[in-house]
Amino acid sequence: MRIGLLNGGGDCPGLNAVTHGVVGAASQKGWEVYGFKQGYEGLLSPGDYKVLKVEKTEGILKLGGTILGSSNKGNFTSKVGEGGIREIPKQLMEEAIETLNQLAIEALICVGGDGSLSTAQQFFEAGFPVVGVPKTIDNDLGATAMTFGFDSACHSVVDALDRLQTTAESHKRVMVLEVMGRHAGWIALYGGIGGGACSILIPEIPFELEKVAETIRQRDEDGFFHSLVVVAEGAAPVGGTQRYEKTKEDGESRLGGMGDEVAEQLAALTGKETRCTTLGHLQRGGSPTSLDRVLGTRFGVKAVKLIEEKRFGRMVSYQQYHVGSVPIEEAVRELNLVDPEGEVVESAKAVGICFGN
Ligand code: F6P
Repeated sequence: MRIGLLNGGGDCPGLNAVTHGVVGAASQKGWEVYGFKQGYEGLLSPGDYKVLKVEKTEGILKLGGTILGSSNKGNFTSKVGEGGIREIPKQLMEEAIETLNQLAIEALICVGGDGSLSTAQQFFEAGFPVVGVPKTIDNDLGATAMTFGFDSACHSVVDALDRLQTTAESHKRVMVLEVMGRHAGWIALYGGIGGGACSILIPEIPFELEKVAETIRQRDEDGFFHSLVVVAEGAAPVGGTQRYEKTKEDGESRLGGMGDEVAEQLAALTGKETRCTTLGHLQRGGSPTSLDRVLGTRFGVKAVKLIEEKRFGRMVSYQQYHVGSVPIEEAVRELNLVDPEGEVVESAKAVGICFGN
């Protein structure tokens, strides 16, 4: 048996743990693993790949990034703009499948977020046996309670907030931290709670800055003269819109800039010195946390199992501490967003965190 493996979309900590899991489990069965480089682009004729042996994956578990590379744009992009689906041109699909057939690859493991898994679904519908593995720091994939990479990203947010807190306290300042997550507020929510933010602004809850300013004034009255505010890049004010960076790549605008706007307005509303830090790709880099190493390994092993059981068109999923699987189609149907009435938001509110509503 010879199987293929590729990573699609933005990288995240834990991708190498999945590779380690796939190669470890496959080689115990005597299977060969071909790792395609730069995501689906590696499937273009004649195929850009490396044969992954256990010796070659020794020690990669703890490495950030991916030894195979990844791509979040290019020929096989299947999600464009906000929720738009792009059908991959038939000729391109045929070329990629021909490459796989030429290399005698019998099944393909696609590790990715909603965009890359939508592409995986198109391969499945075109008749090629695929299984998916959920990956994204944003944690926004449906049908799985968690994706690997999310915990590591939250860890970076918490670390940043711990550092910002000490300097904020010295200068009695308000520190705003803008974090990633696209249209989902998971990173802001978990990172903000873990890092002791007094306010967290997320896309799922439109905010009024006067409410945040009120929380900051109250903290001053209580003798806490510094405050940490976490702003998800996709957050927006009541009746307002999300902020996008000016640059556009492949027709895709990138979210960014809401942190600066919030900092400026909070300074005006509270009269306090306010600074903004945009954490950016620090959230995607570095070594995976122990949770992401273990999740990644388990996901990789499960993907091999799904192939062995010939359960194609399915994505590995994590539910209630159990690694199972769901149809890929189900996972990409809609984004997994924070429930504004859910227990996590309620717990945050119970300890005084303001969501600007
Ligand atoms: O989807 C992962 C993510 O890091 C988002 O949180 C962020 O909006 C986007 O990718 C950034 O993409 P790029 O690496 O292309 O700047």
